[in-house]
Amino acid sequence: MPLKKLVAGNWKMHGVSSDIAEIQEIAAAAKDYSDIDVALCVPAILIERAARAVPGFSIGGQDVHHAEKGAHTGCTSAAMLHDAGASLTIVGHSERREAQRESDEEVKAKAEAALAVGLQVILCVGESLELREKGDAVPVVTEQLDGSLPAVESPAGLAIAYEPIWAIGTGKIPTVAEIAEMHETIRSRLRQRYGEAGGGVRILYGGSVKASNAAEIFAIRDVDGALVGGASLKAADFIPIVAAASGR
Ligand code: 13P
Repeated sequence: MPLKKLVAGNWKMHGVSSDIAEIQEIAAAAKDYSDIDVALCVPAILIERAARAVPGFSIGGQDVHHAEKGAHTGCTSAAMLHDAGASLTIVGHSERREAQRESDEEVKAKAEAALAVGLQVILCVGESLELREKGDAVPVVTEQLDGSLPAVESPAGLAIAYEPIWAIGTGKIPTVAEIAEMHETIRSRLRQRYGEAGGGVRILYGGSVKASNAAEIFAIRDVDGALVGGASLKAADFIPIVAAASGR
């Protein structure tokens, strides 16, 4: 049985009050695709307003601190995200791994903190262009994954996003064979780590997903959805990707 696909938008540092109308448009259109889970991960400060504006639709955060509470100026805890109305969060996005120098260990702790309060987690991994060109993409992503996976008994609520850094915002995407190889590798590591339940963890692809390439990407084995950046900002761009996930 194929897993129910998840198509999640990552709004990154985009979104103010006037964009709530776009979120409402996306949420309304997503209702036509009950066979697909659709979510939008918005800036932390917009979560509460977005969640109130679209009851029943999944709103998420883009990062979370690993600690429950304490002296962490400017950070947001998992309980705070949950309290604001989020049902999921991204952790370990490459933009944070790079700019905030987040380690695998930290990403793992963040995933554990989020799962512990009942948030779903989209945990990102992905290689740089340099590593891809050196032929090291698979071993490097495997190591990143092994170091970042939460130490939980059941991986319920966990999803992995494979996002090659060189494909983010560039319009370039890996070949079908490259995506298939990486997703298959990730699936086998998940089974090794979590046993049978590892087969139920969704593996999303992210990096320059658009309406024009979505169907081809979703047809690849072990691609259980997408994490979409730029093309998630407008309903007109995002909903056709959801439709492609639904085979329409
Ligand atoms: P783009 O879809 O804009 O390439 O961004 C991908 C991404 O980083 C999603 O997290």
